[in-house]
Amino acid sequence: MIRATPHVAAMSPYALAELNAPAGKRLISLSQNESLRQPSPQVGKAVTRAMASAHLYPDPEWGALREALAALHGIPASGILCGSGSMELIACLTRAYCDLHHAVLAPAHAYPFFRTASELARARYDLAPEDGVTVSVDALLAAVKPDTRIVFIANPGNPTGTRIPRAELLRLREGLRGDIMLVIDEAYGEFADHLGEPVFDLVGRGDTVVLRTFSKAYGLAGMRVGWGLFSEDIAGEVRKVMNPNNISAVGQTAAVAALADQAYMQETCSITARLRHGFSKRLREASFQITESFTNFALVRFGGAREARLADAALRAEGVVARAQSGAGLPDCLRITVGTAEELDLAASLLKRWNDGGKT
Ligand SMILES: Cc1ncc(COP(=O)(O)O)c(C=O)c1O
Repeated sequence: MIRATPHVAAMSPYALAELNAPAGKRLISLSQNESLRQPSPQVGKAVTRAMASAHLYPDPEWGALREALAALHGIPASGILCGSGSMELIACLTRAYCDLHHAVLAPAHAYPFFRTASELARARYDLAPEDGVTVSVDALLAAVKPDTRIVFIANPGNPTGTRIPRAELLRLREGLRGDIMLVIDEAYGEFADHLGEPVFDLVGRGDTVVLRTFSKAYGLAGMRVGWGLFSEDIAGEVRKVMNPNNISAVGQTAAVAALADQAYMQETCSITARLRHGFSKRLREASFQITESFTNFALVRFGGAREARLADAALRAEGVVARAQSGAGLPDCLRITVGTAEELDLAASLLKRWNDGGKT
């Protein structure tokens, strides 16, 4: 028999949502935090032009994309690495910096891929309690061990939707040892940028990485483009373990075109926030518990894990797929992505009907 290495054989595959609807029902996926609308129309035009050179390998240095990101965020292009989604960058960070002698630390309800990336690197994965569903800097600092090598925090968080202010991130960084890398994953950063608390300057310290993605506010989940700002040293090590030709030419072109249309992206963020508020208000009025979110999804808490499963089944019976959250330590919650007004209307009506009908 051909055997995988013991640590891979012991791993569970990363679980994505099961995307299927009962016969005769239209599938409405509110399960993957994709954008509620297509990318900017400029993206389609640019991608069509890029097809003319699809027979050539893509730019391994992501030159145009790095320049555009640097200009937009006022950061050095040389510190930017682009990944096949930010997932690639997360996995490469653990691969480059951790092995079986190390631990990765994250908040209790962190993005589950942090665990997968740690397991891939054979590192122990430690969790620190949260303050409800909000990151607790004190608990993270208390959970640091002598072998802790990386602390991951998504801000805003997934699946919690909550965020901590910049001052708290600074307090976290100040409280961590200098040999611990802090990775701030801002996959939903664009939805909170109006609060005016960028953290790219922390990267200059040499011990902090900031990640972002085109999968959410820019509506390019299918193109697989993520990026991050790294110190020169960290970037050099991470590049060694990355696929050297990781983002297709079409993906790079699409990201550059999406960046150039900031008005469209900002409009996506404000439509998303308006729909999220309306949906949350409606569910709260129907006595559901919803945390304030700074993202393109809402976290709904039920009376227990059984109730959450029943609500999930009631939605699925009508083709609406939400995301159960046992994997993030929240078995009593469902995460519902902000879809179109019609999709959210259907989800809210189904949940209300389920609630009024005795929650069966
Ligand atoms: C917190 C967080 N980080 C990273 C990712 C991965 O994004 P990408 O599509 O860029 O790989 C996600 C996707 O849902 C996420 O929620």
